[in-house]
Amino acid sequence: MADELNPETPEEEQPQKKHKQRKNGLYPGVSEELAENMRTGWADTELHDLEPIAQAGHTADRRAALSARFPGERLVIPAGRLKTRSNDTEYPFRASTEYAYLTGDQTENGVLVLEPTGETGHAATIYLLPRSDRENGEFWLSGQGELWVGRRHSLAEAEQLLGIPAKDVRKLADELAEAEGPVRNVRGHDAGIEKALTDKVTAERDEELRVYLSEARAVKDAFEIGELQKAVDSTVRGFEDVVKVLDKAEATSERYIEGTFFLRARVEGNDVGYGSICAAGPHACTLHWVRNDGAVRSGDLLLLDAGVETHSLYTADVTRTLPINGTYTDIQRKIYDAVYESQEAGIAAVKPGAKFRDFHDAAQHVLAEKLVEWGLLEGPVERVLELGLQRRWTLHGTGHMLGMDVHDCAAARTEAYVDGTLEPGMCLTVEPGLYFQADDLTVPEEYRGIGVRIEDDILVTEDGNRNLSAGLPRTSVEVEAWMARLKG
Ligand code: GLY
Ligand code: MN
Ligand code: MN
Repeated sequence: MADELNPETPEEEQPQKKHKQRKNGLYPGVSEELAENMRTGWADTELHDLEPIAQAGHTADRRAALSARFPGERLVIPAGRLKTRSNDTEYPFRASTEYAYLTGDQTENGVLVLEPTGETGHAATIYLLPRSDRENGEFWLSGQGELWVGRRHSLAEAEQLLGIPAKDVRKLADELAEAEGPVRNVRGHDAGIEKALTDKVTAERDEELRVYLSEARAVKDAFEIGELQKAVDSTVRGFEDVVKVLDKAEATSERYIEGTFFLRARVEGNDVGYGSICAAGPHACTLHWVRNDGAVRSGDLLLLDAGVETHSLYTADVTRTLPINGTYTDIQRKIYDAVYESQEAGIAAVKPGAKFRDFHDAAQHVLAEKLVEWGLLEGPVERVLELGLQRRWTLHGTGHMLGMDVHDCAAARTEAYVDGTLEPGMCLTVEPGLYFQADDLTVPEEYRGIGVRIEDDILVTEDGNRNLSAGLPRTSVEVEAWMARLKG
């Protein structure tokens, strides 16, 4: 649907038009009479006595921790801006993880500013677009007007919901440009804010802020664990949806699987947390197969790696490798069971006090053993592991932190993450795999084109771990029984 406010403007100028306003306050083609008419006759819809969002207490704690880490400095954390898809259409907006983590808000153009209140402490303000002005016609004449994009919360409403004082974001860039004192900004989300801060920030100091916010998310609070479980539960239902329509996918393509899972994600959550990998047959050997335009054939495997993102932006990241016709062949089962055994070893190594690398090492050890046992690699296993020879077929690390980003905490320092120690409240994936490319001449033909990954979302608890995705079967026998039940 095009912006039709100004039918006199030639079609090719329409996209720019929405941002232009004439000096007299009117757009071309809008009479004074119409403008006057549109100013009035609207009900007051202001909302009062709103309850704070469920995570308001947690976001306050997160801001307090951030404040303590950077005393005396102004901290600027933008949500990000809309990205143009083409002309006057935009990609779906997804607020920056840092902003959503600290505010619970997800509105485009929003910016959280922590203003130092002295040597210690900060005052937080959230800068947002206010309700559209009806006096100057903005609400129906601007492309960002509420008539076009939907009602926004007023600043007073946002304050009640988020528990943070709110101000008009349109004045923020000027305020920041004039402000004195040290400042740090989370980069990469808002070019306007970055421009205003150009002479006041350094890349190194901004990176320290990004690293801090990445590491702060490693241990999840109670709200976050609840949201991750919700994401996983929806994902389990999405996998069940897929199994029920495998015949339709066989009649069409992997896209049917992608669309089926997406429906669950949009109905129960915000979106998928990453592009679904719906990899049938040899596509399973392409780690990030998101084209999803291939055939789905009986007798092949389907590697489905997908996750629902909740409305609060926490995502699951789950993989199952399923026999499309419901029964694994002997060679598929042999490879699947090896990956399962590897995953079992990996999950058993997830516990507080263990090194982050331990579960990877445990899982790789099993896979190397299998590859030696099958005669694909010459032993001993320790030599294989030392030289990393198993990696021709294991390809990737065995897991990563999970949270608001599928690869959460990605900016954390090596010592805090890859070389770090597991603590209760951390959530991570354990996802070993074996992948025999279709053109791999170093393995017997029967292996070629088979890729298997099993991925679960594991919470580190006080005494070990909890598999959040235990709602999906993992052993080959359980997977077959589950599929038979769903296909009925
Ligand atoms: N879905 C991407 C991954 O498993 O890391
Ligand atoms: Mn995955
Ligand atoms: Mn993963």
